[in-house]
Parts: sequence; structure tokens; C-alpha cells
Amino acid sequence: MPDRKPVVIAIDGPAASGKSSTSQWVAERLGWLHVDSGSLYRALTAAMVRTGRPPETWSGAEIVAQGPRISLRAEKTSFSTLIDGEPADDEIRGGAVTAQVSRVAQVPEVRAWVNARVRQAAESHDVVVDGRDMGTAVFPDAPLKVFLVADSWERARRRLTQRLERGPTDDEIAEETDLIVQRDAKDATQTLQAKDAVLLDTTYLTQAEQVERIVALAHAVSHRPDAT
Ligand code: DC
Repeated sequence: MPDRKPVVIAIDGPAASGKSSTSQWVAERLGWLHVDSGSLYRALTAAMVRTGRPPETWSGAEIVAQGPRISLRAEKTSFSTLIDGEPADDEIRGGAVTAQVSRVAQVPEVRAWVNARVRQAAESHDVVVDGRDMGTAVFPDAPLKVFLVADSWERARRRLTQRLERGPTDDEIAEETDLIVQRDAKDATQTLQAKDAVLLDTTYLTQAEQVERIVALAHAVSHRPDAT
């Protein structure tokens, strides 16, 4: 635990903009911990999916009631998200959860719960936290905020390359682009760029270049005497 107030870097942006992998890499470079706020929305959704109840019947109170089953465990370079004390990475990234999570993330009580958990994680560690509204709703005083964007075609191409482990065809990219644009529309209300965020368009950057830029910005702000 640092012997000063921990520092937060907030990285926001739309789906498939590379936030999580970039944040993870930046955290490793700085020796800080990465918090993926989306994983908390996903974990609450997974806990509800496990109940077997139809998603149309889920109320905000019931979703938040799953909260005690979810925990963040500090590892070497990140917090892992646990359900009932067990890592649930594959489950929370699976289709059943992805299909419902945007709706769960619209619920105000759910947002309040996630925001409180993320703030708690940042009380004891320097963190790189990624999401949609980290620089606006959750850490408005973060000394460094980055908003990552990339062309939707490029986001689709990257996502497919990762998933298929080969170069996707143009038809495959076009289909994935359509899904990404639909996701953007569903998440639009909570995806907010802070006025003082650095806008980083990664369309023509490699991941290593994105990471270098953010690490350089982080070094600049952490040397500022008023960094909080
Ligand atoms: O980044 P992701 O795909 O893991 O996010 C999962 C969902 O949670 C997605 O619908 C957006 C939403 N989300 C959000 O509303 N606010 C955040 N800070 C993080 C994620």
C-alpha cells in the first residue's frame, strides 16, 4: 500500500477500443493494479444468469442482492473478479452474460454498487481503472483520464483477429462491425468522455504505442506535486 494517497488513472471508451488490455499493460508497466469495472457488471449479470430466472424479470434490487457473492481479489498486477470466491473469467465473458450485461448496466442501483466497489479498490492501491464513466462519474478528480477511441471497422478487425487467431475476411469484419455499432448504441448513455480527458484515437496505433503514450502521460502527472 502506498504511504500517500493512491493515484488513479481512468481509461474510458467504447466496446472493443482496447481499454482492458491497454489498461492491464499500463498497470504492469507502472507496477500498479488494473481494475476492470466492466467485469463487475458482468459478474453481477453472471450471478443472475446462474439463478436461471428469465432476464425480463430481474429487478435492480435482486441484481444488487447478488453483490455479496462478488469480490475483487488483488493479484500481482490486477484485481480478479470472483463469484462465490472463485474466478469466473470465461463465464463472465461468455455469450449468455454479454447478451444481458448492457441492460444490467443501465440500472442506477447497479451502477451505484459497481462504482462503490471500484472506489474501494482504489483506496488501497495505485490503480489503472477502465470502463465507460470512470473519468466522469467515478473518479472525476483523477489526475489522468484517457478516452480511447478507434474506428468501428478497426475495432471489429482487432476483436476478430484475437478471437479467430487468424486474419478475418472483409465479410466477417463487416458483420462484426455491425454488432459493435449496435453495442455502442446500447452503451451510449453511460459512455462519457470527461472534459479533461486526453482523447487517444488508436485506429492507427499499435498496442505497444498506445501503452507508451499512456505511460508517458502517467509519468508526467505522477511527478506533479498536486497528483491525487
Ligand atoms: O467493457 P465490457 O464489455 O466488459 O463492459 C460490459 C458492460 O458493462 C457493457 O454493457 C458496458 C457496461 N459498462 C458500463 O456501463 N460502465 C462501466 N464503467 C463499465 C462497463
